[in-house]
Amino acid sequence: MKITGRTKVVGIFGDPVEHSISPFIHNASFEAMGLDYVYVPFRVRKDRLSHCVDAIRALDIKGVNVTIPHKEAIMAYLDELDHEAEEIGAVNTVVNTRGRLKGYNTDSQGYLNSLTEETGFNPTGKNIVVIGAGGAGRAVVYGLAKKKPRRLVIANRTPERAQALAREVSKKYTSTELVATGLNIKDYLGDCHLLVNATSVGMQGGKKGPVVSIEGLPEDAIVSDIVYKPLDTPLIAEAERLGLRVHRGLGMLVHQAALSFELWTGKRPSIDAMRFTAVQSMEAL
Ligand code: ATR
Repeated sequence: MKITGRTKVVGIFGDPVEHSISPFIHNASFEAMGLDYVYVPFRVRKDRLSHCVDAIRALDIKGVNVTIPHKEAIMAYLDELDHEAEEIGAVNTVVNTRGRLKGYNTDSQGYLNSLTEETGFNPTGKNIVVIGAGGAGRAVVYGLAKKKPRRLVIANRTPERAQALAREVSKKYTSTELVATGLNIKDYLGDCHLLVNATSVGMQGGKKGPVVSIEGLPEDAIVSDIVYKPLDTPLIAEAERLGLRVHRGLGMLVHQAALSFELWTGKRPSIDAMRFTAVQSMEAL
């Protein structure tokens, strides 16, 4: 990669950012596509966020990804929000157009694109269980709700959070039956077509077992996990043991990255190349 005075800068705001694989994914794609961009990790502390957003304008940074812990807080400092980011209540991508900053959320569409690409699953008219009602859970729930499933169960360790989200979603998507519950979901497994883990459970170094028991799912059900490190989470391993179809988290990571890349450059990157780089860099990190 050759950086010159003309090179356009994009990057990621987060804390920590040391283990992010986004720089690998984006830089490899810029290089492969001959685009004069560079993607830089920026460790942004919480109390410095507003200054760093100003720096996007001052330094003419073309855009950033936003990750933990800034996805919600950054919204207050932007000039405009895309409809989806506003609905989800979180921004993972900022685009700088001549000093005007617009926030997007590509997690939601990234999840759907990955699910469709890898499984062909169409959520319309289906029964779906989503575990998790945090930021990631909200992105997955809104993405799926858009497709009008028959029933959408939101299960969360703290049931009040699931209830609040279900109430919100049911106001906008009236044709879907919304159910909120704690983590005891056995009543909803028998006729479930897709079960998604959108919590952080299963992430490397965290709690060991699957987030919920999935015994009782029909044999044609799909089990999906948004956690991508490790590639085979305890939930994915359990689903495979039961002979169920699985959808791993790496796809969402790659598809949300591809959508951000396209927002910045107007060019569509190769999903396969991004996936290849993601796997390689995870092994290297
Ligand atoms: P993110 O943006 O990654 O979703 P978050 O907003 O902090 O982060 O949400 C984390 C999600 O993982 C929540 O749904 C959380 O459940 P609570 O709302 O009850 O906190 C869930 N979660 C985290 N650790 C968990 C655990 N050990 N068991 C079950 N759920 C867990």
